Amino acid sequence: MNLTPQFIIDACYFAAAFLFIYGLKRMSSPVTARSGIMVAGIGMLVAVLASFLYYFGVNDAALPHLGTNVVFAAVALFLGTAWAWWSGKRVAMTAMPQMVALYNGMGGGAAACIAAVELLRTNAVHQTIPLLLAVVGALIGAVSLSGSLIAWAKLDGRINGVWRIGGQQILNGIVFLATLGVGIYIVFVAHGHAAPGIVAAFFIGALIFGVMMTMPIGGADMPVVISLYNAFTGLAVGFEGYVLQNPALMIAGMVVGSAGTLLTLLMAKAMNRSVSNVIFSNFGDGGGEQQGEIKGSQKPAEAGDAAINMRYASKVIIAPGYGLAVAQAQHKLYEFVKLLTDAGVEVKFAIHPVAGRMPGHMNVLLAEAGVPYDMIYDLEDINGEFKEADVAVVIGANDTVNPAARTNKSSPIYGMPILNVDQAKQVYVIKRGQGKGYSGVENELFFADNCNLVYGDAQKVMVAMIQAVKSLEGGGH
Ligand code: TAP
Repeated sequence: MNLTPQFIIDACYFAAAFLFIYGLKRMSSPVTARSGIMVAGIGMLVAVLASFLYYFGVNDAALPHLGTNVVFAAVALFLGTAWAWWSGKRVAMTAMPQMVALYNGMGGGAAACIAAVELLRTNAVHQTIPLLLAVVGALIGAVSLSGSLIAWAKLDGRINGVWRIGGQQILNGIVFLATLGVGIYIVFVAHGHAAPGIVAAFFIGALIFGVMMTMPIGGADMPVVISLYNAFTGLAVGFEGYVLQNPALMIAGMVVGSAGTLLTLLMAKAMNRSVSNVIFSNFGDGGGEQQGEIKGSQKPAEAGDAAINMRYASKVIIAPGYGLAVAQAQHKLYEFVKLLTDAGVEVKFAIHPVAGRMPGHMNVLLAEAGVPYDMIYDLEDINGEFKEADVAVVIGANDTVNPAARTNKSSPIYGMPILNVDQAKQVYVIKRGQGKGYSGVENELFFADNCNLVYGDAQKVMVAMIQAVKSLEGGGH
């Protein structure tokens, strides 16, 4: 076996590809997800380090630039690693979707930059297929960059509301077709040697299209949009990997592209929407106007009374939501659950696929608190059990338990599958006040006869509930 630099590079890329796929496989279960991320990260490190070997006997043309290129690459690596480390350490769990949007956009931007370098290289000899892929990748990557930045700004509260103008779709169509037209000119007329001004016009058109496509989309749909851009970025990286004939980029791009596509479809399904409906309609903003009157009144309950009721129940199902993350009440919640199970109560957690603000948000929180995985159930597995439950506890959830999604055709969330908490004999909803859910619609569950509201920050309520059950045990019951 001849250990040439090319052989070592190929072997490293093979190892990296294996590590990406194996890491992704481990991410499919909360038990192994953390190590899956480490494995995929090591794969990326191997691929990045192997790329430096190109300078040693593989690509002689690059040798004269060895010093400058290695310095540039090392500085970029250092800055990127330092920033990612710093921001990753300090990001709040509730701000994770914004961070994902930002990093994802940068991936798209990096793919677009590779294409820009190719298109601006005056001495390059372009073949049609790689050139076509470079331009398609550039278009997708640039749209993903500017679209993800808008998604980040919306989720981070820096841009509020939806920005719609009359004839938006037609205008979007015109910008897209114009950009596509310039791309076709670059490939088939200029054969990759278009003037820099034309290349710049192409990128500006793609960036503007990304902004225009994302601005009209409401906040509640942002996770689906981010996931869609994630798939776009993967596709763009895969195409540019082909252009550079770099197998690691091709494989990483394909893995991200296909995983992103699957996640997009799953999330759209969880909200009972089609992806085109997400992109071309404005769900989630001002929907309250169409929802009609809700009959009944909200009935408050004391945390202690609710806790004691649960202590004497046989079956309790807990539906956590975004408010649990805001209050960081997962540890106290599990402490309370342990008191119930010690007293012989059967307790289960019901997880809605879009509860919280990112895929798997509730699973991550509950795992952090040490809740055993066999207590945690997905919507389709637990929904049939609510009617047998003595108590359903809604903690910081709202849209994901709104029965209007099942019954009220005029509600903006109509058709979204929800957790059937309203079917339990007694429902307790823990929330701070009259705050609405992400979609902005009122929740008729809170007015139902079998529902009581335990007002307060989720963490404080859990502390009061723990005290109530403990004082009961201490009192010799
Ligand atoms: P939401 O519908 O957002 O409702 C959260 C509720 O928590 C609010 O009604 C709020 O009421 C309460 N709350 C907030 N802080 C609290 C605290 N400190 N203590 C107690 N309660 C608190 O939550 P959900 O049911 O999880 O639904 C998620 C929504 O977000 C869906 O519409 C979904 O489409 C959307 N979304 C999901 C994702 C993903 S992928 N998971 C990403 C982005 C958006 P008060 O203000 O009265 O306390």
